[in-house]
Amino acid sequence: MTAFTTESVLAVRHWTDTVFSFTATRSPSLRFDSGQFVMIGLEVEGRPLTRAYSIASASYDDYLEFLSIKVQDGPLTSRLQHIREGDKILVGRKPTGTLIVDNLKPGRVLYLLGTGTGLAPFMSLIRDPALYERFEKVVLVHGCRLVSELAYGDRIMHELPTDEYIGEAIREKLIYSPTVTREPFKVTGRITDLVVSEPFYADLGLPPLAAEHDRVMICGGPDMLRDLKAFYLAQGFSEGSLGEPGEFVIEKAFVEK
Ligand SMILES: Cc1cc2nc3c(=O)[nH]c(=O)nc-3n(C[C@H](O)[C@H](O)[C@H](O)COP(=O)(O)OP(=O)(O)OC[C@H]3O[C@@H](n4cnc5c(N)ncnc54)[C@H](O)[C@@H]3O)c2cc1C
Ligand SMILES: NC(=O)c1ccc[n+]([C@@H]2O[C@H](COP(=O)([O-])OP(=O)(O)OC[C@H]3O[C@@H](n4cnc5c(N)ncnc54)[C@H](OP(=O)(O)O)[C@@H]3O)[C@@H](O)[C@H]2O)c1
Repeated sequence: MTAFTTESVLAVRHWTDTVFSFTATRSPSLRFDSGQFVMIGLEVEGRPLTRAYSIASASYDDYLEFLSIKVQDGPLTSRLQHIREGDKILVGRKPTGTLIVDNLKPGRVLYLLGTGTGLAPFMSLIRDPALYERFEKVVLVHGCRLVSELAYGDRIMHELPTDEYIGEAIREKLIYSPTVTREPFKVTGRITDLVVSEPFYADLGLPPLAAEHDRVMICGGPDMLRDLKAFYLAQGFSEGSLGEPGEFVIEKAFVEK
């Protein structure tokens, strides 16, 4: 058995000249937990060229969805950004990753903090009923440079609340809080600056941050992860991992080369 299944692209959406998303068929044998990532890619000159990608679709969807950067000279995404409906992609058979709800201790408020394509795992998680069973409120913070990069904003605000399966939980418990850093918007500033400020919590109508009742999942670039990890450790949060749940968990949105 090969390490990958071959899937067909179903639809492609270009959000900006640096971000796109696409759906693909899902092998019935592929099982994953909301928040996990999997290797995906293309066959190039007869060999697999693959990279890690968070799965943005729900674990119960019969298709797969991915949110992707376009790196102009990137080995994979310089090619992947040109895929069209009907094209073939490779999808690994072994999803993995730390951003799963079982890696967190029980709590009251769950903060999901993602920059850029770091939103992807949270698009899967916010459609998981387990999240709303375990937490009273779920706060999704997506930080981007530009408003146009706030992918899926309309879906989160207008489609998911009316979803037959998960809509009620989303209406009652999900707070979507996008922020932009390089142009005017209703909320501006880096996530690293927002989460350390008391007004951020007050504006959400939530109590100040506290390790005893708050839980955090983080997905972003290496510097953002480093700074937020240091911040939460200093606040008395412990990092969770498989088999050892904690108060926060982190995952790389990409690796700096
Ligand atoms: C656990 C994990 C999950 C990932 N999930 C996703 C995902 O859901 N969507 C996604 O687009 N990428 C994701 N990535 C990054 C992805 O694996 C590739 O790096 C990306 O597809 C670019 O591939 P490439 O071959 O074109 O360029 P690469 O040679 O892999 O990357 C070149 C450079 O581009 C920058 N870069 C790469 N990816 C990103 C990104 N996503 N955002 C900002 N800058 C980036 C970095 O500076 C990197 O050094 C993930 C990485 C990891 C480790
Ligand atoms: N998006 C673009 O318009 C654009 C254009 C040209 C090239 N690129 C390249 O494309 C890649 C991906 O860009 P991206 O915009 O998706 O990812 P990104 O550079 O990680 O930025 C996404 C968001 O994260 C913030 N951020 C960056 N570093 C941070 C840190 N250390 N702590 C806290 N927040 C941080 C950014 O704020 P700040 O704005 O304050 O950095 C921005 O709001 C990068 O390599 C970038 O150089 C992007």
